[in-house]
Amino acid sequence: MNTTELAKGIYSVGAVDWDVRDFHGYSTYKGTTYNAFLIIDEKVTLFDTVKRSHQDELIRNISAIIDPEKIDYIVVNHVELDHSGALPNMVELIKPEKIICSIMGKKALIDHFHKEDWPFEVVKTGTEISLGKRTIQFIETRMLHWPDSMFSFVKEDGILFSSDAFGQHYATSERFDDEVDLSEVMKESAKYYANILYLYAPLIRKLLKNVAEMNLGIKMIAPDHGIIWRSHIDKILGAYDDWSQNKAGNRALIIYDSMWHSTEKMAHAIAAGVERSGLRTKLINLKVHHRSDVMTDILFANTIILGCSTLNNGLLPRMAGFLMYMRGLKPANKYGASFGSFGWSGEAVKLMNGALEDMKINVIEEGLRLKYVPDSAHLDECIEMGQRIGKRVLEGE
Ligand code: FEO
Repeated sequence: MNTTELAKGIYSVGAVDWDVRDFHGYSTYKGTTYNAFLIIDEKVTLFDTVKRSHQDELIRNISAIIDPEKIDYIVVNHVELDHSGALPNMVELIKPEKIICSIMGKKALIDHFHKEDWPFEVVKTGTEISLGKRTIQFIETRMLHWPDSMFSFVKEDGILFSSDAFGQHYATSERFDDEVDLSEVMKESAKYYANILYLYAPLIRKLLKNVAEMNLGIKMIAPDHGIIWRSHIDKILGAYDDWSQNKAGNRALIIYDSMWHSTEKMAHAIAAGVERSGLRTKLINLKVHHRSDVMTDILFANTIILGCSTLNNGLLPRMAGFLMYMRGLKPANKYGASFGSFGWSGEAVKLMNGALEDMKINVIEEGLRLKYVPDSAHLDECIEMGQRIGKRVLEGE
């Protein structure tokens, strides 16, 4: 990444990771960026660092603007290692006068790097620090994404450094939202929300309300991943508003895994039934779809129909792993149902319905279990099930 001037004396100095394809279990087909920002003022300040593997790029970028040793303050908006991995080496190089972070940030930094003698300065929501010509206002954003997370707002320039919020795993040579394909950025923003922030919807609603009430006059939102929002701020704020209300459309996802194609046949017949009811549907075979893409689909669908064969009195491992992942992300406000083929014990449907109920998903069918290989009468039963589900969903249950 080259440096980019966001406003006079405010630079993007982070790194592009073109190659990363797995981000703790989230598929990042388009790579990512680790954004860091530098303000040149009486107190030269660096906001966040980068993943340790990319620290040379960060140092090179800073050096193109100023000698890194001239940095006075380092602000840590978020301690996760994709933003703080380079911090120990940067602290050694810079010897900052202050490391500014939230109270939870200080605790997490000590737990990560075990340097109690770093020059921490703890800030909280409302704290302001003058850099000379500019003032930084801090807003704690606990759990968005970690307990330590916070925003830093440059008051005079209207720039919000938003850490993980509003980000995307999206590697580009461009830096701004109006320089890239917006539909692609929104798709990656939705995937980021669905896989990182979905479970924090109530906190996001509160944060959006608080930030609106603060009337900050935001001119630019600069997250720690992906492009910077300057022309489409309303679009990303509006999307977060929608997503955090769990406003999914009338659409059924049939998410399945199959041992010997019997559950697969059921899935296709159920999909035909749903389609006949007039409800839009999508078939998702877990053998070929990554769990993090499935979560993005779940963000936009109000009906989840799960299918799985029974294996050793349980679920096939792909479905078991997917349900564990999905449960952690707490999708809300959905209808659900389950189906599957079995040989002799047939626990899979009960287990899937139980998982849906644990997620507080409204299970609207008892569940359909068929022995071994479905015949044409069985497939008619599947079609009828799909039609029943579609009708109930379209009628709003
Ligand atoms: Fe980009 Fe929560 O780290």
